[in-house]
Amino acid sequence: MLSKINPIQTNSWKALDEHFSQNDFDLRELFTDHPNRFNEFSLQREHFIFDYSKNLIDTKTKELLLNLAEECQLKNAISGMFSGDKINETEKRAVLHTALRDFSNKEILVDGENIKPQIKKVLAHMKAFSESIISGVHKGFSGKEITDVVNIGIGGSDLGPVMVCSALKHFKTRLHVHFVSNVDGNHIAEVVKTLNPETTLFIIASKTFTTQETMTNANSAKDWFLKAGKQEDVAKHFVALSTNVSEVKKFGIAEENIFEFWDWVGGRYSLWSAIGLSIVLSVGYENFEQLLKGAFDTDQHFQTADFSENVPVLMGLLGIWYRNFYAATSYAILPYSQYLDRFAAYLQQGDMESNGKCVDRSGEFVEYETGPIIWGEPGTNGQHAFYQLIHQGTELIPSDFIAYAKSCNAVSDHQDKLLANFFAQTEALAFGKTEEEVENELRNAGNSEEEIERLLNFKVFHGNTPTNSILFNELTPFSLGQLIAMYEHKIFVQGVIWNIFSFDQFGVELGKVLANKILPELENNEVITSHDSSTNGLINYYKENK
Ligand code: F6P
Repeated sequence: MLSKINPIQTNSWKALDEHFSQNDFDLRELFTDHPNRFNEFSLQREHFIFDYSKNLIDTKTKELLLNLAEECQLKNAISGMFSGDKINETEKRAVLHTALRDFSNKEILVDGENIKPQIKKVLAHMKAFSESIISGVHKGFSGKEITDVVNIGIGGSDLGPVMVCSALKHFKTRLHVHFVSNVDGNHIAEVVKTLNPETTLFIIASKTFTTQETMTNANSAKDWFLKAGKQEDVAKHFVALSTNVSEVKKFGIAEENIFEFWDWVGGRYSLWSAIGLSIVLSVGYENFEQLLKGAFDTDQHFQTADFSENVPVLMGLLGIWYRNFYAATSYAILPYSQYLDRFAAYLQQGDMESNGKCVDRSGEFVEYETGPIIWGEPGTNGQHAFYQLIHQGTELIPSDFIAYAKSCNAVSDHQDKLLANFFAQTEALAFGKTEEEVENELRNAGNSEEEIERLLNFKVFHGNTPTNSILFNELTPFSLGQLIAMYEHKIFVQGVIWNIFSFDQFGVELGKVLANKILPELENNEVITSHDSSTNGLINYYKENK
């Protein structure tokens, strides 16, 4: 059981409030006054460095935030999650995605049963199956090797595998892995356009096996396949990843083609489970295992490191500092790696579906802010799009900069240029450009005093925009596993402190229910009057024009 402590009633929250109102944190001053700041506020772990010195904090802020974590019983919450307590109380489930990557000999019990043997069994199944596909031993119905794999899933059954397959493109096997998620028929139509049913394997990935989008796409994939193959060939070309074995069988997928997982794996935390089969096919089993080992490394760090040196704990606490004291509404994820092009999209579900809640663990409406809006794009692309607002807009937007020292592809001087931009942006965001600096610059460029006055305010950068920098040595399956797990635990830390349940997602239900109610109304020619005037008007316009 997680505690039910209202964070704003704690002594440390009150102390933080006072500390916030009494201080005006200025990064220029903080760095000038403390030349050792980088050493004090950075951590080196195996394979990466985490620099949080460019944050609007001092030693006291950190101490008070750590007190908040203690007062909200974060330690108990961490051990509760890892040991299988049913901390997803609203759904009466344990939260054990961490068990999927636990390489220790320790037993993990759910309802008195050790779950480690079932995890091992599914991993062995994934290994054997992927090896037979990659090696070409498994043949399609006409005797040809499989060349293309299509993962059909949405949300957690899509975003994690999409993100990882993109991130680990450099480690690719010979297989081409595609993803279909949207119920928009254009998605599947464009994907199958270039494929041959004789050499295509479909993975139907759905925890519940009832999700409208996935089942619609799965049926369309089967229809497309059956134009070339026969019903008895389906077994060679369709597999399922699900917790709902009976629904999978009803769909027509044979038992040996089901890769099972369990209700203690949340959808958005499921890439480590059978949901990772597309990853295994994309990069091979050994690399998938490295990904799991990287996450396990972070899990151990999260459980054992003192909170003052615990990366996910510090990330979570810094996020709370900005969300609740600086009233920052959003948080940007800015990876300086094209390989991480889907990382922000992946974290949008991870973070916003987990902590986008307004009811606390006692069932009362919260009186404080919870999860921020998560967004971002890879740098340097983002610099030429939305950075203007981060530098000179009216919102405070904290962000994480993520990069790799070594490039997977040493192409002329690209890497130095990429990293020069990474360093320059965090520097510019922190220290900006003062009036005095702008004046001098304009004067040196030969501008008149009148011109200087006219341009001055436009050219000032207020700076003082906080960033974390996470600089890895290189992008490997292991370091990617470390990174993903860091964010999973950051989200957990924040959910614990905000006193909310991070592992349910009731907020996605209403739209699903209404869509199912509207669907039959779109299938006839009648004028619809059963909704409000806007919804009726839109539906009727659609029906006239479809
Ligand atoms: O969007 C709601 C949700 O339930 C997510 O939490 C989940 O990842 C997604 O739908 C897909 O669900 P399933 O894997 O059951 O198809």
